[in-house]
Amino acid sequence: MAKIEFLDLGIQPIANNFLLTADQIKNEYKFHLTVTFDEETKLVSLSDFVPPELMFNDSYVYYSSLSQTMRSHFKETADALIREFSPRKILEIGSNDGVFLKNFENEMAIAVEPCGNFAEITKNLGYTTYKNFWTSELAEEIAFNHGRQDLIFAANCICHIQNLDEAFDAISKSLSSSGVFVFEDPSLLKMMERNSYDQIYDEHAHIFSVTSLKSILREYGLEIFKVQNLSIHGGSNRIFACHEKTRKIDKSVEENLTKENNFGLNSIAAYRQFSKNVQRSKDQLLDLLSELKRKKYKIVSYGATSKSTTVFNYCEIGPDLIDYIVDTTEAKQGKLSPGVHIPVISPEDGFDNSVNYAFLGAWNYEKEITQKEKIFLESNRFITHVPHVRFIK
Ligand code: TMP
Repeated sequence: MAKIEFLDLGIQPIANNFLLTADQIKNEYKFHLTVTFDEETKLVSLSDFVPPELMFNDSYVYYSSLSQTMRSHFKETADALIREFSPRKILEIGSNDGVFLKNFENEMAIAVEPCGNFAEITKNLGYTTYKNFWTSELAEEIAFNHGRQDLIFAANCICHIQNLDEAFDAISKSLSSSGVFVFEDPSLLKMMERNSYDQIYDEHAHIFSVTSLKSILREYGLEIFKVQNLSIHGGSNRIFACHEKTRKIDKSVEENLTKENNFGLNSIAAYRQFSKNVQRSKDQLLDLLSELKRKKYKIVSYGATSKSTTVFNYCEIGPDLIDYIVDTTEAKQGKLSPGVHIPVISPEDGFDNSVNYAFLGAWNYEKEITQKEKIFLESNRFITHVPHVRFIK
C-alpha cells in the first residue's frame, strides 16, 4: 500500500498571511502545495506540511465570531450537545475567540488555543486557557490539573493537526470513560463532489473522510458512534466519537461510509478524476475573468478567505484581473493578499456601484452574503467556481 500524490496546486503562500510591510513582502514564505492519498488508511493529506508556528501565531486573523452564520452555528451546537450529553467538564481544542465556549459557564470549560491573540480573549472571558498546541504533554498537564473531560470539542481544528497519532492518543487519554469527543471539519466527500479544491491550503493538513477517521481513531481505542453532515464551511462532517463499545452506534455511521465508498473515495481513480476537474475549473475561471476584463468590467473579490488564497495562487489571478478584495476583517484591511498581492479594503470603501462583478471568495457564506447584498445583485453578479464556474443569480 502506498501514498499516492494526485494533485498539484503549485507554489502557494501561507493562506492567512496578509502582508503589510516591504519586509513581509520580501520575505514571504512559499511552499509547493501537493496532495496525497494514503491507500491504506484512505487519508488525504498535504504531501508536505508547513511549520505550525508560521500559521498559528499571535497575529492569526481568522475570527470565528465575525459572521452571523458562525455565531448561530456554535450557539446551536453548544445547546444540542448540552441537551444530548449534559457534560460537566468541557475542553475545547482550538477555541479561537471563544464563539463556542461562551455558551458554557466559566467553571465548566477549558480552552486550548495556540494563537496568543485569541488565547487572551478566552482568558479575559474568564475561562481557564492554555496557550498551546494540542500535544501529549499538554494533555497530561490538563489531566493532572483538571481530571478527565466529559466533552472534548474541536471545530475546524483537528484537520490542522499534522501528527494525528499524537493528537488522538492524547484525546483518548483525556476523555472520561463515558465521555464524548465531538469534532467537525471539512468533508472530503463534499469537497470532491463540489470540486471545491480551495478547501486545500496550508492549514488543512488533512481533509477527512469518515472512512479514514474510522480507521485512525480505532488505533487509539476510539469509535465513531454518530456522524452529522453540516452545510457549514462549504460542507463539513461532525464526528461523534467515544471509547470503544461504550455507546450504541447510530446508522448515520454506516450510511456515510457507504456514501463515501459509492463515490469512490476508497480508491485512487476518483482522486485522479478530481485532479482533472480542478484543472478544468482553473481554465474556465481564467477564461471568464479575462473575457470580462477585456470588456473593461470592474471585477473585485468578496471575502479575503484562505480558500481564495488557494484559488488566486493556483490560477495565477492577480491585481490585473481583480482590482481589490473587500473584507470585513479589520486585521486584513489595508494589507496585500498572500502570494498574488491583491489589495484588501473594507466593503464600505470598495463595494460600491463602480463594481460590475465580484468573485465570491467567501462562497461558503453565499446565503448570508446574497441576503446582505441584494442591491448589488439587482444589476451586478457574483461569480463562483463551486461546483463549477458560473454567475450567481
Ligand atoms: P473563511 O471562508 O475562511 O471562513 O473566511 C471568511 C472571510 O470572509 C472572513 O475574512 C470574513 C469575510 N466575510 C466578509 O468580508 N463579509 C461577509 O459578509 C462574510 C460572511 C465574510
